[in-house]
Amino acid sequence: MPVTFDVQPSPSARTDAEVAEILADPGFGRFFTDHMVSITWTKGQGWHSPKVVPYGPLSLDPSAAVLHYGQEIFEGMKAYRHEDGSVWLFRPERNGERFRTSAARMMLPDLPVDLFVQAVRELVTIDARYVPEAAGEHSLYIRPFMIASEAFLGVRAAEEVTFLVIASPVGPYFAEGVKGVDIWVTDKWARAGVGGTGAAKCGGNYAASLIAQYEGYEHGCTQVMFIEAAEKDRVEELGGMNVFLISADGQLVTPALTGTILDGITRDSILAVGEQLGLTPVERRLSAQEFLDGIAEGTFVEAFCCGTAAVISPISGFKSERGEWRLKGQDFATTVRIRDAVLDIQYGRTPDRFDWLQRVV
Ligand SMILES: Cc1ncc(COP(=O)(O)O)c(C=O)c1O
Repeated sequence: MPVTFDVQPSPSARTDAEVAEILADPGFGRFFTDHMVSITWTKGQGWHSPKVVPYGPLSLDPSAAVLHYGQEIFEGMKAYRHEDGSVWLFRPERNGERFRTSAARMMLPDLPVDLFVQAVRELVTIDARYVPEAAGEHSLYIRPFMIASEAFLGVRAAEEVTFLVIASPVGPYFAEGVKGVDIWVTDKWARAGVGGTGAAKCGGNYAASLIAQYEGYEHGCTQVMFIEAAEKDRVEELGGMNVFLISADGQLVTPALTGTILDGITRDSILAVGEQLGLTPVERRLSAQEFLDGIAEGTFVEAFCCGTAAVISPISGFKSERGEWRLKGQDFATTVRIRDAVLDIQYGRTPDRFDWLQRVV
């Protein structure tokens, strides 16, 4: 049953001309829409007070648990404008389900998927003018998140929690465009390990990855690929994206979901789309040695990283303290085919065979 949101339209909403100026060059995550959604959860009462309110700073008590113990989770998804002006979400229930998984790991309350999706739809509907035209792969990036807002300094699960949704019109994530990026491989810094929070989308994972990312920048790399921390026997994912290899014999290989990496929605979609394109999807453990030797020997000819924000970015090569590995397929032909197939679905340029799209406006 849909919930009724208390909608408080922003008295200082931007003019159409101001919105047009932002949409002409949105960058990534710099501008936010006029509104945000907020729902409160209180122990004993459950979820209550669903609201759409003007976008603006939060009022948090300095003792709020999220500020001290990082009890928070988030999601990342997009709304796409199709050529006929309609606005669509891509597999939003998958984000809602992953949000529940993250919440359970971080001792945050369960938010029903229906309410999650409705909250996203409320915001996209009221701020639909911020969903850019598709040209240049522009979209509206949506950030649902949940924070422990209770004012209490003891270490325990918060008894008051706030769920919020904000949105930002965006252009491409990588300023480089669809050029190959270089990836830094680290086994010095860990992002997640068995029993940790790697499969949850919680802020701490990203804070922990920054030191490695900056080491990567120093070596001319855009992102970092992590190795599992405890057993060090397998490649995992990048700081904010999943990773794929394409073999010379048409296998589309990605690390299996072992509980230490994020179950990416783009990853899952690529496995399905890749199969349709005649590739053989393979999810398995890959040691760093097999991964890098396979590139050097030409077993793996292309590599790419993927996620909602950056869609699919071809990888030119990997670097580490021990050397450098360049992919043979520098035209990224198969990667670009997969990329186009996913984008064509998202932007409604091809039939939605998998029933992944949900219309909002
Ligand atoms: C660590 C990590 N891995 C993978 C992904 C890709 O997930 P998705 O395709 O659902 O955006 C993301 C982005 O959300 C991420 O932060």
